[in-house]
Amino acid sequence: MIVQEGHEVRGAVPVLPEPRGPLSQAVVEVLRGGPQSRTALPVRAVASADPYGEDLQLALHTCFELHYRGFIGVDPDWEWDPGLLGLRGAMEAGFLAALRADACVSGAVGTAEVAQVLEEMLVEPVDAAGVSHHLREAGQWWQVREYAALRSVYHLKEADPHAWVIPRLWGRAKAALVAVEFDEFGGGRPEMVHATLFADLLEEMGVDSGYGAHVDAAPAVMLATVNMMSMFGLRRSLRGALVGHFAAAEITTAPAARRMTQALERLGAGPRAMLFYTEHIEADAVHEQVLRREVIGGLLADEPGLAGDVVLGLRATGRLEERLEAHLLRCWGARPARSALRHPLEDGPPERRSGGRSGVPTRW
Ligand SMILES: [Fe+2]
Ligand SMILES: [Fe+2]
Repeated sequence: MIVQEGHEVRGAVPVLPEPRGPLSQAVVEVLRGGPQSRTALPVRAVASADPYGEDLQLALHTCFELHYRGFIGVDPDWEWDPGLLGLRGAMEAGFLAALRADACVSGAVGTAEVAQVLEEMLVEPVDAAGVSHHLREAGQWWQVREYAALRSVYHLKEADPHAWVIPRLWGRAKAALVAVEFDEFGGGRPEMVHATLFADLLEEMGVDSGYGAHVDAAPAVMLATVNMMSMFGLRRSLRGALVGHFAAAEITTAPAARRMTQALERLGAGPRAMLFYTEHIEADAVHEQVLRREVIGGLLADEPGLAGDVVLGLRATGRLEERLEAHLLRCWGARPARSALRHPLEDGPPERRSGGRSGVPTRW
């Protein structure tokens, strides 16, 4: 049975988001108003929109969400509406062009370049100063809660966009990717589905664990990371990019998960909050090897012409993560510190270790 209201129940269908500009306004109004309102879709306005901007990223996210769980009160048949698909295609084209430009992928790319990019990603700079480093060394409870709320936009559907690539692969690549997905979906144990472990983490921190609960609070810089996965997953032509993205995510997750475990330990978080990250320390150390050797190796053995797209997936993932991390560190490092969310979280349970505040110290 579909849950029709509220975000409290796991598996809930989300409500439509609050628009952030003309594109997202048009998409939300069309979904609210029924098929007769599709004439209002502003396809021409896409050309002048910022491909990384709040409006386009939310509009794109809303269109993609029709392929996941949809929205309360919205006819599921909108998923295949030609008018909406046309608008989505125009927005994807702008977004993809920006990703290609930022990833510096042009001209012919060989498999040797894929190997080189992977090698570079495997070495973490000794002076790295990312979000997980900050949270481990000096992160505060309210920052950890904000981070979890932001990441929930993806982690509550963890590994779902990657499943779309399965019918587009075969042989070695397919067998290996499905083995990784089996782990992501709990290896046959519903309580171990990674999205469920993340919902447990949110609940332990007193953060709403409803699917889509934090989309309105998530800035475009977060939505873009999820939109990239959805676009790569839904387009067969971008199967190489999806595989590259998946490998990049798995390579970077294990060391970051170790630091997050240390951050949560320092802040006295409970075992339900820890399990998501402890589970990823070992699992992703294995997953990244399977992705590199078997999935990318198998795909490029079958289709060497996809090397450029694999590099696109690898590099674009890195660029979007850098943008997101820069945003978080900029907000939290401001004097006074400010929320990295569009709407700060409501206060939750206090930090256990010090009994400190759980909410952001200043509003913005
Ligand atoms: Fe996972
Ligand atoms: Fe993984």
